[in-house]
Amino acid sequence: MRLDLNFVRDQFGQLADAPEFVFAANAGGSYVANQVNDMLAHYDRHTRVQPYERYESSNTAGVAMDRARSLWTQALDIDDDELTIGPSTSMNTYVLSQAISGTLNAGDEIVVTNQDHEANNGVWRRMAKERGVIVKEWQVDQDHGLLDPDALLALLSEKTRWVCFAHCSNIVGTLNPVELLVSMIKRNSPARVFVDAVALAPHRICNLRQLGVDGYVFSLYKVYGPHQSLMFVRRDLHDQLEPQCHYFNMGNANQMFNPAGPQHSLVAGCAGVIDYFQALHLHHFGGAQQPLPERLADLHGLISAHEDELAAPILDYLSNDTRVRLIGKSTVKDHDRAPTISFAPMKQSARAVATKMQDMNIGTESGHFYAYRLLDDLGINPEDGVVRISLVHYNQSADVEKILTALDASLTL
Ligand SMILES: Cc1ncc(COP(=O)(O)O)c(C=O)c1O
Repeated sequence: MRLDLNFVRDQFGQLADAPEFVFAANAGGSYVANQVNDMLAHYDRHTRVQPYERYESSNTAGVAMDRARSLWTQALDIDDDELTIGPSTSMNTYVLSQAISGTLNAGDEIVVTNQDHEANNGVWRRMAKERGVIVKEWQVDQDHGLLDPDALLALLSEKTRWVCFAHCSNIVGTLNPVELLVSMIKRNSPARVFVDAVALAPHRICNLRQLGVDGYVFSLYKVYGPHQSLMFVRRDLHDQLEPQCHYFNMGNANQMFNPAGPQHSLVAGCAGVIDYFQALHLHHFGGAQQPLPERLADLHGLISAHEDELAAPILDYLSNDTRVRLIGKSTVKDHDRAPTISFAPMKQSARAVATKMQDMNIGTESGHFYAYRLLDDLGINPEDGVVRISLVHYNQSADVEKILTALDASLTL
């Protein structure tokens, strides 16, 4: 079975606004599914009141917010009090670092990478500095920006308290094997594991129990939804961490790591993402009623097959062109690469190439995308950065043809 692209594309009104335009900057923020837009509009039009009171509009608002939490906890296979819905991943990781800070002592160690977005980097490094904690950096290889699990093994010790890395880098595009890494980390240290999945979630929603992580975060505005971030913090950690909410809200575990008040309509709108996935599942698989994580896994099979077909010709083109340096793996054959493809032009600035492509109606971007350390360490000037072509499952093969034509023209001097 193949992904029915007509059905998919019908769920995104913005695709119809400019049929000739190719949106290839999805890693910065995706289009929003109609289910989400409808829900936000309905919430703001009819239930924009303080939620959780007995009068009708308020009660309806609270039910909509609870429904979003319930659907996402099912999808991720976690409990309600393990889910924080906050304004952004950068904010969620910052708050979590404050909660962890007091549990660490001078001489403890944490591991961070030079592959990550700064949201999963600076917060841990600053926290470590304040506490006298030793930071070990798990470094990417110089050619492709990939992380080698053996190199992590060498950094682990009895003193390692946290290991923080990305499920998928927003530049490199290759997945880190989280399940394998978690079991390696747990066998060789007492460390907890925190994973930034922002660059993976638009392509795959994972079962977090299966992954075995202690913390996990991603941003729904890149997953066809509202500008919110979902963060999982394993319950057995809650008693050890310093709550970051008002003292009288401490009994409410889902507020522990969210000093911001909930953004009501946006929280409710998070349900629309699952409604979109459910509509996709129903269309392709009929009324099968298996648990939500299994339905999402079914969809992932269809989505990744389609995304691999989109990425392969672009990777093929870029890896054989001496005018560019491709970052990350040059193939998708191992099913461990998202269609997030970055390259540094050899003879022009990334900005110049991205601008030429934009002039040819390709919505691509250039820059460091907040993975400043990665580009610096790969010998690429972060101030100019890389060109990033980032696709998702609503992109089509016609988009890829236009991208290849634009790439060729833009790289020709
Ligand atoms: C891999 C990765 N991590 C974290 C973030 C930060 O997410 P947010 O914008 O929700 O703070 C981004 C945003 O681009 C990202 O790509």
